[in-house]
Amino acid sequence: MAQAKEPENASDLCNSVTDLLLTDSLSSESPAQIKEQTERILTHEELEKLNSDQTLVSQFKQQKLEKEAQKNWDLFYKRNTTKFFKDRHWTTREFEELKACRKFEAQKLVLLEAGCGVGNCIFPLLEEDDNIFVYACDFSPRAVEFVKENPLYCPERCKAFQCDLTNDDLQDSIPVDSVDVVTLIFVLSAIHPDKMHLALKNIYRVLKPGGIVLFRDYGLYDHAMLRFKSGSKLGENFYVRQDGTRSFFFSKELLAELFTGAGYQSLVNEYVMRETVNRKEGLCVPRVFLQSKLRKPD
Ligand SMILES: C[S@@+](CC[C@H](N)C(=O)[O-])C[C@H]1O[C@@H](n2cnc3c(N)ncnc32)[C@H](O)[C@@H]1O
Repeated sequence: MAQAKEPENASDLCNSVTDLLLTDSLSSESPAQIKEQTERILTHEELEKLNSDQTLVSQFKQQKLEKEAQKNWDLFYKRNTTKFFKDRHWTTREFEELKACRKFEAQKLVLLEAGCGVGNCIFPLLEEDDNIFVYACDFSPRAVEFVKENPLYCPERCKAFQCDLTNDDLQDSIPVDSVDVVTLIFVLSAIHPDKMHLALKNIYRVLKPGGIVLFRDYGLYDHAMLRFKSGSKLGENFYVRQDGTRSFFFSKELLAELFTGAGYQSLVNEYVMRETVNRKEGLCVPRVFLQSKLRKPD
């Protein structure tokens, strides 16, 4: 699969869609990451910048963005096709449950990649592990088509389908209580905070009792959050990019509240801090992600 390039110039990236390029290019060569229980401490200037940006996008425009969320993501894939995100080869290292949750070695695992995009998370997993079946859904019809067109896609091992996690019942495509592991990678941040619980409850219904959700997404005070220009703020920790796609930045506390409210138990919930270096510009930017593991009780 084509690999997206690192951004050429980190200073050009202000609240543009290229923020997404910075999403999470973690690889085996990436700089060390540190896991923290507490949020990043802001500098005086950063704090001032965030505090001074209090003007919210109008309610009219916010409603339009919500109505057009699916269209905006679909246009994103029309423009970028499969060339935007890097394949995520780090998932089995960060989430050992992808292998270790088996009761016996040859056990077939059923996975759901909720909000799969063009499959950057699932295809490395399908290549690495013969004993998995993957359900993959996204609300962008183009993204789903790209998944199906991938040479590694085969219906015996993968079922891709279109689904709005906040609105369409996953049970229409997946049997109830049947999924061992759900991956939710940089997806919940794209959903309006008022609707996140709907997506989590939807996933809960298809997850097996004892099954787990592996979550990684933007963390509070990530560099991308601090680069939004005034006029992009939709609400607390919630912003819109120039292309109309939106991004929420999670605190540990809010994430735990969301998942426990939907019936899950929290197993792990920590900030992942790393620095992305742009060698050409000599810039070092602090990235913050939130990485969590949640379980559906037996
Ligand atoms: C940043 S991409 C991440 C894609 C993929 N998980 C990965 O790791 O590469 C976010 C994805 O969430 C999808 N998405 C956003 N809101 C959604 C919703 N309500 N239902 C289903 N998919 C959604 C978008 O279409 C987009 O493909």
